[in-house]
Amino acid sequence: MNIGIPKEIKTEEHRVSIPPSGVREFVKYGHTVYVQTHAGVGSGFTNEEYEDAGAILLDEAEDVWERADMVIKVKEPQPQEYPFMRPDLVLFTYLHLAADEQLTYAMLESGVMGIAYETVEDNEHRLPLLEPMSEVAGRMASQVVSHYLEKHEGGRGVLMGGVPGVSPANVVVLGAGTVGTNATKVALGMGAKVTLLDINLERLRYLDDVLDGRLTTLYSNHDNITQAIKSADAVIGSVLITGARAPMLITREMLPIMPKGSIIVDVAVDQGGCVETTRPTTHSHPTYFVDDVLHYGVANMPGAVPRTSSLALSNATLRYALKIANLGAHEALERDPGFRKGLNTFAGQCTHPAVAKTFNLRYVEPQMAMDSVLVSG
Ligand SMILES: NC(=O)c1ccc[n+]([C@@H]2O[C@H](COP(=O)([O-])OP(=O)(O)OC[C@H]3O[C@@H](n4cnc5c(N)ncnc54)[C@H](O)[C@@H]3O)[C@@H](O)[C@H]2O)c1
Repeated sequence: MNIGIPKEIKTEEHRVSIPPSGVREFVKYGHTVYVQTHAGVGSGFTNEEYEDAGAILLDEAEDVWERADMVIKVKEPQPQEYPFMRPDLVLFTYLHLAADEQLTYAMLESGVMGIAYETVEDNEHRLPLLEPMSEVAGRMASQVVSHYLEKHEGGRGVLMGGVPGVSPANVVVLGAGTVGTNATKVALGMGAKVTLLDINLERLRYLDDVLDGRLTTLYSNHDNITQAIKSADAVIGSVLITGARAPMLITREMLPIMPKGSIIVDVAVDQGGCVETTRPTTHSHPTYFVDDVLHYGVANMPGAVPRTSSLALSNATLRYALKIANLGAHEALERDPGFRKGLNTFAGQCTHPAVAKTFNLRYVEPQMAMDSVLVSG
């Protein structure tokens, strides 16, 4: 199969979908990989490293898309890329179609086979291609807290780990899933005092156990949250109800009870945020104040560490991309029901229920959509 790796063109996006080590894997199986010149530069991978791995470099994005049977990307196609989509192309990337009507229609009109990382499921119904970015964002969240607690950044001037004789920072983590667990581990590693809240008692029990009681766990309800944030130097928002808007756990009225100069890192901002005063921000303007509380709402946190993120992402995606390359997309999806859930658009049909519902489109079950084309073809 011919594989295309274009350079990402979304603002502030420096990740690349497949690093040279991944190219080597495709080549090993006899596939041809076209990489756009400088596609890996933002993540620290040189053109020479790609060539050494067996890639063919092409200067123009258009040529990469045109020669490829499957294009592997990081972010959803940008409007300049819409004309490159076509019916005999597999597009494997983050799509987030429910948030983008224009892209949804562009994909349907093009007839492209769109497989979205974020809706692929494993055998335990987890989202294996979303998880690596939650790990990155979680670990980053505690680094961000540490940075913005410094006085000249607007924070309280508190050192995460304190020193002997002086208390460490008090970090409250809302949500004990992938982001929350990773944030907790890094904050504990820096010596902070962590209070972790969730509604899933099993999860709290597990973390209390594996982290050897080094943190305080609390059931997540209004009273416990209020109590916890009163003395918080930092709050990390990491809740998720799959497919829904994040629950609002800290309201505008609750904000003044937080100490002056404390910081909120609302990682859940991409699902609307779990703090009422959160709004999306960017890496170039990441923070703002409300009631003397610093807010950080960057919606693509992993973009700040593109090298780590590109490697983490491709560690998870490569296995699936190789299945498509080795078996062909139809057979790869047919064999794996979880992978099939990644199919969002096919031959002009909407094959994801949530996307169809969002835009009032006719939903066609993925297997049926693929069978119908085989029959009519
Ligand atoms: N900003 C970014 O760059 C970025 C990057 C990665 C992930 N995220 C987002 O971070 C959020 C968390 O992702 P995740 O992978 O950790 O999800 P997850 O499903 O692994 O964990 C979510 C946790 O929230 C808990 N929860 C649900 N309702 C709650 C409540 N009322 N109180 C307390 N806990 C509650 C769940 O029980 C679960 O343990 C998502 O919105 C995700 O999209 C953002």
